[in-house]
Order: sequence, then structure tokens, then C-alpha cells
Amino acid sequence: MAQEEKNVPLLKMSNIEKSFQSVKVLKNVKLELYEGKVLALMGENGAGKSTLMNILMGNYHMDAGEIELEGKPVLIQSPIMALRLGISMIYQELNPILDMTIAENIFLNRENTFVHTNFVKEKYVNQETDRLLQQFDVARKATDKMKELSVAECQMIEIIKAVSYHSKIIIMDEPTSSLSSDEEEKLFSTIRDLKAQGVGIIYISHRMEEIFNIADNVMVLRDGEFITSESIQNVTRASLIKNMVGRELSDMYPKTKCEIGETILEIKDFNRKDMFHNISFQVKKGEILGISGLVGAGRSEVIKAIFGLDPYDSGQIFLKGKEVKIRNTQDAIQSGIAMVSEDRKAYGLILCRSINENISLAHMNQFCKGIFLNQKQEKKECESIANRLNLKRRDMGQPTGDLSGGNQQKVVIAKWMLRQPDVLILDEPTRGIDVGAKTEIYSMMCNLASKGIAIIMISSELPEILGMSDRIIVMHEGRLTGELMRSEATQETVLYYALGGKNNE
Ligand SMILES: Nc1ncnc2c1ncn2[C@@H]1O[C@H](COP(=O)(O)OP(=O)(O)OP(=O)(O)O)[C@@H](O)[C@H]1O
Ligand SMILES: [Mg+2]
Repeated sequence: MAQEEKNVPLLKMSNIEKSFQSVKVLKNVKLELYEGKVLALMGENGAGKSTLMNILMGNYHMDAGEIELEGKPVLIQSPIMALRLGISMIYQELNPILDMTIAENIFLNRENTFVHTNFVKEKYVNQETDRLLQQFDVARKATDKMKELSVAECQMIEIIKAVSYHSKIIIMDEPTSSLSSDEEEKLFSTIRDLKAQGVGIIYISHRMEEIFNIADNVMVLRDGEFITSESIQNVTRASLIKNMVGRELSDMYPKTKCEIGETILEIKDFNRKDMFHNISFQVKKGEILGISGLVGAGRSEVIKAIFGLDPYDSGQIFLKGKEVKIRNTQDAIQSGIAMVSEDRKAYGLILCRSINENISLAHMNQFCKGIFLNQKQEKKECESIANRLNLKRRDMGQPTGDLSGGNQQKVVIAKWMLRQPDVLILDEPTRGIDVGAKTEIYSMMCNLASKGIAIIMISSELPEILGMSDRIIVMHEGRLTGELMRSEATQETVLYYALGGKNNE
């Protein structure tokens, strides 16, 4: 640090102020980033991290403040200006244009860069994209359409795109939220290369382990205010949580023992060509079943097929011993299955509708089983769950689209936590959610399990799978490779099966 202080920072932001509809979301915030360093920007959902970065990227105009690049004051009025100044960003919210090819997406708005050298040719862009895809081990072609990609693949494309600008500063806003450890490691090795080239990186993540893995310095924002910025050596998990949340958090995974009853859902010989093969498993009353595996293992595909979102070629679904046919989500919901999907924008939320409306959408009422006695009661329930999850909002009538990324996710979770299906499927339930609210979600899951609901949870966070599951099944390349009881599961055993169960050296 001492040496750094003598250097001119790559980036210095000071006295940054920003309000939305007269609510101040950044108050006198400062930030310093040095060459070849990773600065982790931490804070709870709604703390102001993305807003600060969107100001740096020229997406938002600040109300007050200064930005200096290598000691020189700059005015950044648009993302194009930011890119020209050598700043690029991996955005938290992925909004790919679905009809574009991967190459078109990566080189979007950059055709001009090639005009002078006559490189605008599709061929060059495609070749370059294929090279990048190979470099990042993404098994796709430049000409594949964005709509064919999974959320994880979209995220990899976003990473490739930001890196391909050869910027001096790269902002990474939750780059790993839908990646598993394999892809995460690829990103980290890219980060190490970038650091060696002198690139400065601002890294935002709610996955605490990552911070200790790659950050040099850690800065914390709380409620739009600068709290600390210090070297990682001086930071502990506990001190970081305390700075972010403002209080100590004792038990991250409050798993309680529930009575596990009869089988509720049974899947037999589920198959879909090129996706998954001979998948059979059951989940019991009161049980939390974790599904682990690397991205691309087929976990979400199986779950989506069970919920009627995706087709399957053969197989049977039994609910409480009776075979059911599920052709669409309506069939699934009617059979008593509920799902929080990993792709919440597509299946989970209506962004223009209020928080209240999203939590209490009418067609979900079949799950209410007497929880909502009347509208007043319903509003009260919505408000109380929003408080429990520490949902940062102006009021419950606010459009969900205005909320920070993590707070939007809390709304989807809240919707299902208030209802009582027989089977609740959670695909990456805590993705992008801050530590405090994560623990709340875990304790709500336990609460639902204790009421006899069978819960299936897909998660790419191993500590979460290990901390919350009664039983874990593991997938690798579309097949089930292992099953572990809570007592026998460790990071190593799960990874062993996730890698196919062969490389046990
Ligand atoms: N376009 C907008 N209109 C109104 N309010 C907004 C807008 N964008 C952000 N906010 C508010 O600003 C605050 C900070 O949001 P921001 O997205 O910066 O949080 P964050 O720290 O990135 O959180 P997360 O971890 O959930 O991504 C939140 O209270 C949010 O509701
Ligand atoms: Mg954010």
C-alpha cells in the first residue's frame, strides 16, 4: 500500500453524488484503483455498487464529483467515451440481443474500428471471435445465435467482450454469478494475465471466497456511503461482513434437521437427446435435495423439463406415487410444482409491475392454502417478507425494474417463499444476493422444508450445496455420476463426481 500511495492511481473518483427520484443513492463516495491491481467493490444489495460503476462507464451522469484517469480529470458522458478512454465493463444484467450471432454481439458498435484497415468483413470478425471462444474454452461457434446460449454461456461472452477491448480498466459487475468453479477458474486466470499487463480491475461479487482469491484491495460501500478501502491482508471474512452489513453474522448456513417423509416427486429414466440421459432420482417430504455439477452438466435442462419449460424425449414423472404428464408450466404448477428459475428476467419477474404485484401475482394463488386471507393481509405478508429479506426499496408500489440486481432477485424468491407447493425447485436461488439476505433465504428454505415441502436446489456454490442439502446428487455431461448423503459430502467428493467420477488421483 505504501508504495501504491506514492504512485498516481490509474483511476481516482472523488466526492461522487447521485440521486434517483430525489433518493440519494451515492453520498460523497471515493474510489482509487492502481495499475495491475484488483479492487473488490463490496456491499449489500442496493449499496450503490452498480450505480457507481455505471457513472464511471458513462451510463449515468453523476450529480457531483470528479473522475481522474492517471491524474488527469475526465468527463465521461457515454459508454463509447468510456471505451475510448480505456474503460470497459462486464455488466451485471445480461441483455443479449437474441437474434445476433456471438460474433455480432462481441463486436457490436465496433465495426467502425476496422473500417480504416478494411477489416469490417464478417470473415475477420468471425475468425477473431472463434479464436476468443477457443481461448476461453467456450464450445461454441462465432455464428451461433445468442438465443441458443445458456445463461452461463452468455456470461462468458460478456467477459470475452469486455476483455477484447484491451482496456486499461475493466469493471466486472458480478462476472461469475452464473458460472461454476470451472469457468470461474478460467476467469481468474484471465484476471491474473490482465494484472500482469498492468490492467486495473474493479471486481464486484457476492461470492466471498472469490474476493480472498483474487483481490488486492477491498472497498466497502454501505447505503451509498464509502465505509473502508484496505489491503486484503488486513481483511477477514468477519470484518468484511461487519463492514458490509453493519453487524456480525454468526451462522451462515442455519440448516435445521427436518423430519424426512415419503417420496413426493420421482423422476424415472428421463432423457433428452444431447442434453441428459437416464436421469432418475426422487425427493422426499421435508428434504432439501442439492443438485451439483459444473455449468453445462445439464442440471437446469433436467429441471426445466420437469417444470414444463423444456421438452424431454422420454421418461416418467411421479408425484406422490401417481404418474403425471407435464407438457407445460401450467401442468407443472397444477401438479403442485413451483420453480424459481435461474433466468429470472425470462420467467420470474414482470419488471414494469410493482414489487407488491410481483410477489402476489394472482395466478399463483392456488398455492396460497389460506395464507392470504384478504388483500390487506396479503399486503402485510408481502411487506413483512420484504423486510426480512432487507429488500431495499422506496415503497412496495415501486416498479421492480428500478431495484438493484440483487433486490430484484429477492422479489422472485419472496414470491415463492410465501406459497406452499408440494415441490419447490430453486435454480441458483441466491445468485447475486448479499450475505445477510442469503442467510435469511436459507432459514426460509428450512422453514418450508419443516412444513413438509420437498425442495430441489441447484447451486454452483459448493459451500451452499454442502451447507444446505440433506442429500446431494451430482451431474456430469448430462448424466448422474454420484449421490451423497449430507454426512459424507465434502468439497472433494462432490467435485470428484462433478468431474465425471474418473479423475480421482
Ligand atoms: N434506474 C434507477 N432508478 C431508480 N432507482 C435506482 C435505479 N438504479 C438503481 N437505483 C437504486 O439505487 C440504489 C443502488 O442500486 P445499485 O444497483 O447501485 O446497487 P448494487 O450495490 O449494485 O446492488 P446489487 O448487489 O443488488 O447489484 C438502489 O436502492 C436502487 O433501487
Ligand atoms: Mg449491482
